[in-house]
Amino acid sequence: MKSSLQSIADCFKRPWYIFFLAASVMTATTVAGQSKLIPVTTSANALVLQVDSAKDVSIIYFGSKLADTAEYRLLSGSYRQTEDYTNVLNSAYTSSGSRNLMEPAISVEHSDGNHSLDLRYVSHAIRPTDANVTEYIVVLKDPVYDFEVELHYKTYYLQDVIEQWSVVRHHEKGNVVLYKYASANLYLKSTAFYLNQYHGDWAKEMQPEESRITHGIKTLDSKLGTRADLFQPPVFMVSLGKPATEEEGTVLFGALEYSGNFRTDLELDFQDNLRIISGMNNYASPYTLEADHDFTTPGFLYVLSRQGKGHASRQLHAWARQYKLLDGNGQRLTLLNNWEATYFDFNETKLKELLKDTRKLGVDLFLLDDGWFANKYPRNGDRSGLGDWQVNKTKLPNGISTLVKEAEKNKVKFGIWVEPEMVSPKSELYETHPEWIVKQPGRPEHYFRHQLVLDLANPAVQDFVFGVIDTLFTANPGLAYIKWDCNAVIYNAYSSYLKSQGQFYIKYVEGLYNVLARIRKKYPEVPMMLCSGGGGRVDYAALQFFTEYWPSDNTDPLERIFMQWEYSYFYPAIASANHVTDWGKQPIKYRVDVAMMGKLGFDIVVKNLPPADLGFCQQAIRDYNSVKDLVWAGDQYRLSQPRESAVASMLYVSADKAAAVVFSYLVNNRYAQGSLLPIRMQGLDPKAKYRITELSIYPGTQSPIDPSKEYSGEFLMTIGFNPAISTSRTSVVLKVDKLR
Ligand code: DGJ
Repeated sequence: MKSSLQSIADCFKRPWYIFFLAASVMTATTVAGQSKLIPVTTSANALVLQVDSAKDVSIIYFGSKLADTAEYRLLSGSYRQTEDYTNVLNSAYTSSGSRNLMEPAISVEHSDGNHSLDLRYVSHAIRPTDANVTEYIVVLKDPVYDFEVELHYKTYYLQDVIEQWSVVRHHEKGNVVLYKYASANLYLKSTAFYLNQYHGDWAKEMQPEESRITHGIKTLDSKLGTRADLFQPPVFMVSLGKPATEEEGTVLFGALEYSGNFRTDLELDFQDNLRIISGMNNYASPYTLEADHDFTTPGFLYVLSRQGKGHASRQLHAWARQYKLLDGNGQRLTLLNNWEATYFDFNETKLKELLKDTRKLGVDLFLLDDGWFANKYPRNGDRSGLGDWQVNKTKLPNGISTLVKEAEKNKVKFGIWVEPEMVSPKSELYETHPEWIVKQPGRPEHYFRHQLVLDLANPAVQDFVFGVIDTLFTANPGLAYIKWDCNAVIYNAYSSYLKSQGQFYIKYVEGLYNVLARIRKKYPEVPMMLCSGGGGRVDYAALQFFTEYWPSDNTDPLERIFMQWEYSYFYPAIASANHVTDWGKQPIKYRVDVAMMGKLGFDIVVKNLPPADLGFCQQAIRDYNSVKDLVWAGDQYRLSQPRESAVASMLYVSADKAAAVVFSYLVNNRYAQGSLLPIRMQGLDPKAKYRITELSIYPGTQSPIDPSKEYSGEFLMTIGFNPAISTSRTSVVLKVDKLR
C-alpha cells in the first residue's frame, strides 16, 4: 500500500499517509455483497454514507471517526429506534413526491407535470486535491425520470470542515421546475439537541438565543433579497446531548455560504433524530431548469467539535484564513473613516485636514465615506444621488485624484465608499434607466432608507456596477481601499429583464457574484470592506471577495464586545472591522481596547481629542501594530464570557505559543465588580516561562502589572492571571511573552 501511495503523495508533495486515508475509504466501499459505505472523513470526524441494496443513500453516522473503518458496519445494529416506514428518513438528500414523509431537500415538477422524485445511487468518486482537501462526489439518479443530483462533500482534513453542495441536472424533453433545492441534508442522532441561533436588526446584530429543539420544524431564514442578514444571519450552532460550553461538549457549527435569501430547516423527526436541511430559500423562487443545464447550489459549511465551541471556532478560523476569506493570511490597513466625523457635510478643505489627521493619528489609510458624488441631485443626505457616481463638483471641485495625491503627500493611503447596487429615486440614473430598477410595474414604490435596488439579474446592470469600481480605479490608480455598502432590502421583487420571475432572487445574487468576480480578476489584491448598513451581509460566499466585514453601525464598545464575541465564533478576527467612534459613554481607552480585538479603525474627529486622548491613541496604535499579527493570525481563546461574568476576556496566541495578547473588559459596572478571581489563560506552553507586560496604557496612569515577574505556562493556564479589572480600570491589554 505504502509504495503506490507514496508515488501519488509525491505528486502532491504531501505525506503518503494522507492518501492512505482516501484509499482506505475506497477499500471499505467495495466489500462484495454488502451495502457500500462511503465514510467522508476529516482528522477527527466521519460522516458515513451508506448505499443499501435498494440503492438508497443514507447517513448512518456523523461523529467521531473510528480507527477501524470496517466497524461502521456495526452501526445499524446499534440503534433500536421505531420503524422508519420509508427507508429514506436518514436520506443523504431527501426527495419528495415518492416515499418520503419528512421535509425534503429537493422537490421538482418534471417536464410532464409529474411531481415525484426518487433519487438512487449511481456512483461515487473521491478526488483529493492535495493532502488536506478532498472532494467526495456521490451521483444520484431517478430510475423513472432522466433527472440526477450530484452531492459534493469537500473536506478540509486538518480543520474538520466540510463544505457541501449539490448539482442538479436533467435530460428531460422539456423544462423542469425546481421547487426546493437544498445544498445539504444532514442527519444527527443524540439524546437531545440545542439550537443556538441569532437574530438582529440595524445596530443590534448577532443577538444569540439558545433553546432545546422540539419535534417539528424550526426554520431559520431570510426573504429580504439584499441586506439578507438584517434580521437573521445564515449561521447557527447545534449542541448534541446538552448545550456545549466554550471548552466542552459536542457542537456543530453550520453556515450557508450565500448572500441572498437562505433557509435552514431543523426538523426533529418522530424517531427523535435531527434532520438539518440548508440552502437557498425557495421562497417565491420556483426555478425553471432547462435540459442539460447544471443548477449548482451554494455551499453549506459545517464543522463538528467534541471539545466545545472554542475548538469549533478555531477550526473554522483556520479554514477561513487559509481557504475562503480574501487574503486571509495577509496584512490589513488601520484607518480613519470620516462617516461619523462629518456625515455628508464635507468639502475638499475639510478632507485635506482629515488627511493630515490620519497621518497625525498614525493609521495607514483615510477612508472617504458616503456623500462624495452626484451633481444634479447631490448626495448631501440619504435621499438622493445614489447611482450617479460622478464626483460632486461643489464639494470636490478637483476630483478624487487630488485627494489621493494629498494622501500620498501625507504618507497615508486613500480609500473610498461606494454603494453601487442601489439607486435613489432622486437621481439621474433613476431617470435614465427605470428598467434597471427592481420594482413592480403598476405598484407604488416602497423604499428602504429612501432608496431602491438595481436589478443585478440584468447583465447591463452588472456592467454598470462593475464600471463604477473600474472607473474609480482607472481614474485613481493610487486608490487603496473600497468600502462596499448595501443599505436596502428588496421590496416589490420584479426584474423587467427576466422572463421567469421565479429566478429573480437567485439571478440577483448570481449577478452580484459575477460583478465581484470581475472586480477581483482585475483588482485581485485591493482590500475591500463588506458593509451592509452594518452587518446585513456577512457570509462566507461574499467574504471570498472581501478582506473584512463591518459588524454593525453600533460601535458602542460595550455593545461591540457582545457582538464581536458572537461574530468571532464564525469569523476570524482579521476580518472584523472595528472602529473607535463617539458611540457609548466609555473612556477613549476602553473604546480603543475593544476595537483592537480585530482590525482597528477610527471614526472620530481627531482635532477634537484632548491632547492626552490623542497621545493615548497614538501610542495605542503603535501597541496595536506590535500585536496585530497575534490578533489576525493567532488562535483565539475566549477566557471569560461577557454573558456569564462581569469581565469579558479574550486571548490570541501565536501558533508556536511564543506570544499572546489578552484583552479584558469590565462589562458590568455595578458596585465592586471586576476580576475578583484570576482568569485562566489557554493555548500556552505549560512548560515554558512567560512574562506579562501591559499595553495601551493611558498617559499618567500606572500599571499594577509587574513586567519582571515570570510565570510558567502551567501556572497561567491552571491558576490564571488577574488583569486587575475594576470599576476604575475597566479595560486592560496584556502582552504575554515566552522567555527565550
Ligand atoms: C451604512 C454604513 O453601515 C455606515 O458605516 C456608513 O457607511 C453609511 N451607510 C453611509 O451611508
